[in-house]
Amino acid sequence: MAQPKLAEQPNSMKIKSIEELNAFRQEILSLQDPARPTVIVCHGTGCLANGSPKVSEALRKTIAKAGFQAKVMPGIKTTGCHGFCSRGPLVIVKPYGLFYQRVKAGDAEEIVNTTLLKGEPVERLLYKDPKTKEPIALEKEIPFYKFQQRVVLRNIGKVDPMDIRDTIAAGGYQALARAMTSLTPDEVISQVEKSGLRGRGGAGFPTGRKWRSAVAAIKKKGGPVYVVCNGDEGDPGAFMDRTIMEGDPHAVLEGMIIGAYALGCHQGYIYVRAEYPIAIKHLIIAMDQARSLGLLGQNILGTGFDFDIQINRGAGAFVCGESTALFTSLEGRAGEPRPKYVRSVEEGLWGKPTVLNNVESWANVPVIIEKGADWYAGIGVPTSTGTKVFSLVGKVNNVGLVEVPMGIPLVKIIEEIGGGVPGGKPFKAVQTGGPSGGCIPYTLKDVAVDFDSLTKAGSMMGSGGMIVMDRRDCVVDVACYFLKFLEEESCGKCLPCRLGVTRMREMLDTFSKGQGSKQDLEDLMSLAQAIQDGSLCALGGSAPNPVLTTVKYFREEYLAHIEQQRCPAGVCKDLITYQIDPEKCTGCMLCARNCPQKCIQGEKKKPHRIETEKCIRCGICLDNCKFEAVQVS
Ligand SMILES: Cc1cc2nc3c(=O)[nH]c(=O)nc-3n(C[C@H](O)[C@H](O)[C@H](O)COP(=O)(O)O)c2cc1C
Ligand code: SF4
Ligand code: SF4
Ligand code: SF4
Ligand code: FES
Repeated sequence: MAQPKLAEQPNSMKIKSIEELNAFRQEILSLQDPARPTVIVCHGTGCLANGSPKVSEALRKTIAKAGFQAKVMPGIKTTGCHGFCSRGPLVIVKPYGLFYQRVKAGDAEEIVNTTLLKGEPVERLLYKDPKTKEPIALEKEIPFYKFQQRVVLRNIGKVDPMDIRDTIAAGGYQALARAMTSLTPDEVISQVEKSGLRGRGGAGFPTGRKWRSAVAAIKKKGGPVYVVCNGDEGDPGAFMDRTIMEGDPHAVLEGMIIGAYALGCHQGYIYVRAEYPIAIKHLIIAMDQARSLGLLGQNILGTGFDFDIQINRGAGAFVCGESTALFTSLEGRAGEPRPKYVRSVEEGLWGKPTVLNNVESWANVPVIIEKGADWYAGIGVPTSTGTKVFSLVGKVNNVGLVEVPMGIPLVKIIEEIGGGVPGGKPFKAVQTGGPSGGCIPYTLKDVAVDFDSLTKAGSMMGSGGMIVMDRRDCVVDVACYFLKFLEEESCGKCLPCRLGVTRMREMLDTFSKGQGSKQDLEDLMSLAQAIQDGSLCALGGSAPNPVLTTVKYFREEYLAHIEQQRCPAGVCKDLITYQIDPEKCTGCMLCARNCPQKCIQGEKKKPHRIETEKCIRCGICLDNCKFEAVQVS
């Protein structure tokens, strides 16, 4: 027998009431046996790149060959990203909840024979705690997952994003049915207002207030009104929105349909980053399936309400995520920001009232309606309610995507969920908020991760990037990296950003070469202020943030570069030399074998030596030496 059979979905079937939706859901659930083993294979972007299709194929073949009785034939489900991509490809075996990491096609036989046939775990595929070195069998016991609270990511990793029936079985579209059958549009907006939801795209503007202003704008100016989903996600290293669109596209659609109902909108747009082909594919499939069931398009749920969505690929520029640039790009012109004399809710797309929200913001809406505004407002802190998804990267053991309640102490994310810095040392700083954010030093490790506390600390929530740095990361270098990114992404329309960001980056370059003066540092601060005050859009307006916070918290490190021509982290190439400590060197020769310049001399089992004049300071010897004999000075 093949996979467990799900309810048929005839092409002509349209769900015309909440009762019909519930009946369809019950039918799907009645065909699923929760006790029957299901092997979940992650098919998120990270695991796909690491070969998960080969794993699912091998499991499928091995299960087919294993001679199970038809009644207990295990099912295979492919899902979106589970967040722990650095351990992928991931396989989870339900109902036990066993978590296997770095699985290869060749492991299929052992998983089938040991787990599916005997009910025992395959020890060597289990996650091992980096601190205790103990294996942890169950997904829910792994610290990376244990301390998370999954609200937005509730279905991701559980449902097959390409099968709407799986989403409906998990409770998808219940909120839509509830909103359209038992709440007035005004009541829906009140729920969103009461929930305290603030936009997850960066600025943290209250979503309910935005919707309410749009209603006022429509009254004043007349329709039509548009709803738009911002899926441009341009921050380097961020993949929250991609994961949501790929892994639970229906949550985004459902949120948008609820928003459209509340606002009386008939046309929506999703602006997706062009480099996200899987997100685009899954959204298109999800929309087709929702339309065929009467959940999108004409006469939604038999209520007479019409609303449809179109997908547009982003133009490939970071600035196109900015609201006015996004509208211009959607209208088919070059995506350049325009002055915001009039708010987008009044004059957005084609000059009409428009509500633009981020992917994660839209995905929060169904759960607010389903579980109620009070439930939602009870998570997090009063001024930042609910949860936030972060991409946790950098010098941390557990790299991945995590969802936590707002207000959680920063250290809890880094140490408990992230497993701390490799080597067990404390982290040096955390860069939050992407290129527009700032660095939070270890001394502020207990800062609450919410919109206002992060801003107070000089950084920001942004869209949820979190880069952990250790003592080998140089703050001048980090600030320079972000400014370089923004310099390249500036649209060039206004002078403070076009010239100012370049000048700031040049000044940082100078510092990293051991040049510049204390006065230059002061001038850098004045320039930062001028750029903040004079830029047309928030790209320029927030560009100085990485510099401002690093100077605020790590002034000594800047001064070491300027006054002592020294890079304490050992990163800035012009300021460092590599040496080998003869006391520590065992003469293993690993460094010499890997040095691209062949400038490390020495005999086997004897201390080695670097010919400094030939060294290009690539750091390969430092990374290779297991005895901490290579030193940077
Ligand atoms: C340069 C720049 C890039 C931005 N990129 C994005 C983006 O990729 N995704 C996003 O949702 N918001 C982005 N924003 C914020 C949007 O302009 C807008 O505030 C947001 O989409 C509104 O949705 P929200 O209220 O749900 O956060 C960007 C802002 C700026 C200034
Ligand atoms: S601040 Fe920068 S990105 Fe924004 S409009 Fe001006 S030049 Fe363009
Ligand atoms: S890798 Fe380290 S221990 Fe080995 S030869 Fe080089 S410096 Fe010495
Ligand atoms: S830093 Fe690079 S070039 Fe210099 S000695 Fe080490 S490996 Fe060779
Ligand atoms: S893609 Fe599989 S865990 Fe992220």
